[in-house]
Amino acid sequence: MIGIPTETVYGLAANALDANAVIKIFETKKRPTFDPLIVHIANAEHVLKYATEFPSVAQRLTSKLWPGPLTVLLPKRDLVPDLVTSGLPRVALRVPNHPLTHDLLERLAFPLAAPSANPFGYISPTTAQHVVDQLGSSVPFVLEGGPCSVGVESTIVGFEEVEGGGGNEVVVYRLGGVSVEDLTAAAGEGVSIRVSVNNSSNPAAPGMLKSHYAPRKPLILLDGDDEIPSSREVGGQRVGLISVVSRDVVSSGVAVSMSLTQDGSLAEAAKNLFATLRAMDASDVDIIYAQRCKDEGLGRAINDRLQRASVKE
Ligand code: TXA
Ligand code: MG
Repeated sequence: MIGIPTETVYGLAANALDANAVIKIFETKKRPTFDPLIVHIANAEHVLKYATEFPSVAQRLTSKLWPGPLTVLLPKRDLVPDLVTSGLPRVALRVPNHPLTHDLLERLAFPLAAPSANPFGYISPTTAQHVVDQLGSSVPFVLEGGPCSVGVESTIVGFEEVEGGGGNEVVVYRLGGVSVEDLTAAAGEGVSIRVSVNNSSNPAAPGMLKSHYAPRKPLILLDGDDEIPSSREVGGQRVGLISVVSRDVVSSGVAVSMSLTQDGSLAEAAKNLFATLRAMDASDVDIIYAQRCKDEGLGRAINDRLQRASVKE
């Protein structure tokens, strides 16, 4: 088991075909075994080794978006251990876009199961140092691949045939590094995109737990500019503010202020999201306020993570 860089977040990787190796991932992360793992492959030619079907819509999407932050759910072959899919009938496959990890996958004779390399429920790691800081002694080796360029996890999709000859549907189970707009463009005519991002803690639903990606400190999501706190303390608690506009625009009187972007782009905000949450968690504030992004493009994935980070269970 090793730490690997990807363009989204760092992963904790092991031989996906070896249940004894995979169980170590669950133990190290303290992850419940009902939450399945994504299987990383070197390129789309490997898909049918692990899946029994590769529908044409999936081929079209992956030919345009792989390598990249897109994970596809396809019916699994028996050689993929049930532990990897948590007993679910589909396997999650992805070709990550990072030169080191791509090179590694090309050399290995097996695919790599890899969840994000953080303790279950905590903020995902976007540098090798984050992995070492949190899982240090239990992970013998982390491949240093620099800071992740995308910064939020892959978008997870499945494929449905709409009954009555209604064509094909792509179902988005997790918002992530490929925006819904980009998916729609890549899917082309005649394919509908449905976002089905559930908020339950129902183990049967593809593992999107309501509370996740969470700092230890309470996080409060802000909708409008008027709600931005302007004092160092609220109710005796030192206030931190994470803003999505450049630092000079928001200079309220809070104790610690951090901005997700300097240039106002959602791509930059996504890239900085998890490191900023970590820095806030490590700072001396007691409570974190975070501004919601525009609900478009990567903003949807950022808002999804902030929403889950704000829920305490
Ligand atoms: O960007 C990413 O996807 C990163 C990097 C390391 O590749 N990985 C990642 O893995 O975010 P993880 O384990 O933190 O999230 C994987 C999620 C699960 O929580 C679940 O929602 C979904 O992928 N998933 C995995 N396998 C599945 C399956 N067989 N059926 C349904 N959902 C699945
Ligand atoms: Mg994760």
